[in-house]
Amino acid sequence: MQVVAADPAGLEAALAALAEGRLVGLPTETVYGLAADATDGRAVAGIYAAKGRPSFNPLIAHVADLAEAERHGRFGADARRLAEAFWPGPLTLVVPKRPDSAIADLCTAGLETVALRVPATAVARDLIRRFGRPVAAPSANRSGRISPTAAEDVVAELGDRVAVVIDGGRTPVGVESTIVACLDGHVRLLRPGGVPRAAIEAAIGRALDPDDAEGSDPARPLAPGLLVSHYAPNARVRLDAAEVRPGEALLAFGPDALPGQERAVARINLSPTGDLAEAAAGLFRALRQLDASGAPTIAVAPIPADGLGEAIRDRLGRAAAPRG
Ligand code: TXA
Ligand code: MG
Repeated sequence: MQVVAADPAGLEAALAALAEGRLVGLPTETVYGLAADATDGRAVAGIYAAKGRPSFNPLIAHVADLAEAERHGRFGADARRLAEAFWPGPLTLVVPKRPDSAIADLCTAGLETVALRVPATAVARDLIRRFGRPVAAPSANRSGRISPTAAEDVVAELGDRVAVVIDGGRTPVGVESTIVACLDGHVRLLRPGGVPRAAIEAAIGRALDPDDAEGSDPARPLAPGLLVSHYAPNARVRLDAAEVRPGEALLAFGPDALPGQERAVARINLSPTGDLAEAAAGLFRALRQLDASGAPTIAVAPIPADGLGEAIRDRLGRAAAPRG
């Protein structure tokens, strides 16, 4: 495994690895991705193996722009509006897959739909454009673990399972993309993420369609990968804590002190001013650091559910869920 800079030489090394069907740690604006040639089934199989990810859980194909996306998926008016409003950026669109798309069936887990995204970092866009093919990339963590927001996290998660890691520094958004399905005239939120729900609704000019019965059952999510337990640190996670109990680490938010916080064995405030974008950017790093304190439990202060708070609370809820 080789860690390279986000410069022309690093890009060459990453391109060579992709061309050989090997895996690349790729900085996007949300989290680091584990990238491979999305048109090469064997390369995609390498992603599932490296992550220990079930192969029924499809991957996002990353493309250079909307024109490339439209070669792989069918975009109706809503999907096109969303792509134009938020690409490049932290939005993934699930649309019907074109039968003539070159994206491997293993990437889409055999579904008739495809998840497409145009990432916003210069290095990711340069890599995809120069590679000339879509790049499959889940978050570069072992399945079920905390997503990586720095190159060193990718190295810690995957080590030699990845050929090249591009070090692009810390990812600015810090939570994964918002996933929106545009299917059969319905627009549904499959995963809250870096684009807030209200911004999606403003772009389509109406409220999102409610989840159907299947989507509202957390054990059978519309996004097959949204298993309840995810982002799991070794420590137990206790949400909406009203106080800090003996032995606990504290994930704080905002200016207010929690009773007993002085006895926390480790403490990180995601944003002392209560800024949700700052909190999202530091969330996964903070979970990793508090976990490293060895505390058996991480108490999490209340975090509001508006804006990016919906994605933050979603991730923390999965981190707190009983482990399967
Ligand atoms: O920000 C992100 O989206 C990052 C960066 C690397 O782009 N990627 C990411 O990928 O979070 P991953 O694999 O960790 O999460 C992708 C989610 C999974 O829950 C998967 O089930 C869902 O997208 N997904 C992929 N294709 C789908 C499809 N056709 N229909 C429904 N859900 C899909
Ligand atoms: Mg993931």
